[in-house]
Amino acid sequence: MKRLYRMSLWGLIIIPLISGAAHRPLDQLSQVQDSEQPGELIYQQYCALCHDPNPQIPLGAPRLGMAEDWQTRDLSDREALFERMDNGMGAMPPRGGCFECSDELLQAAIDYLIEHNDSP
Ligand code: HEC
Repeated sequence: MKRLYRMSLWGLIIIPLISGAAHRPLDQLSQVQDSEQPGELIYQQYCALCHDPNPQIPLGAPRLGMAEDWQTRDLSDREALFERMDNGMGAMPPRGGCFECSDELLQAAIDYLIEHNDSP
């Protein structure tokens, strides 16, 4: 009886959990690539955690739509901006934490984040 319980625990809970976690990001990414606003979707899924006006993880990241947060940042050189995100910066992990994202998707996420700010 105990063995049966343990087997169903694996079958019903643990295996779906593991495979669910492993497969979902890729499914979502292909949906993102086909969508009309990939930058916003990537932002919501990977960047908002730290960059939202009310971030779930408050690490001092410049926030979406908060011009004062961006005043000290150099937004003029888009390539350098991408590189800093690519390499990681301070508390931000490399590639903003989205290792499965393509360069194009990450650039779109940066554009989304930047375009929602009034600073130059
Ligand atoms: C774990 C939190 C976290 C996540 C997730 C995160 N960031 Fe950041 N980000 C930060 C922090 C903190 C900074 C400020 C780093 C510093 O100035 O030392 C930052 C800075 C930036 C900057 C400004 C860089 C500059 O040159 O001043 C950009 C652009 C950026 N992030 C884009 C992104 C994008 C795009 C994503 C999602 C793909 C993302 N971040 C995900 C924490 C995060």
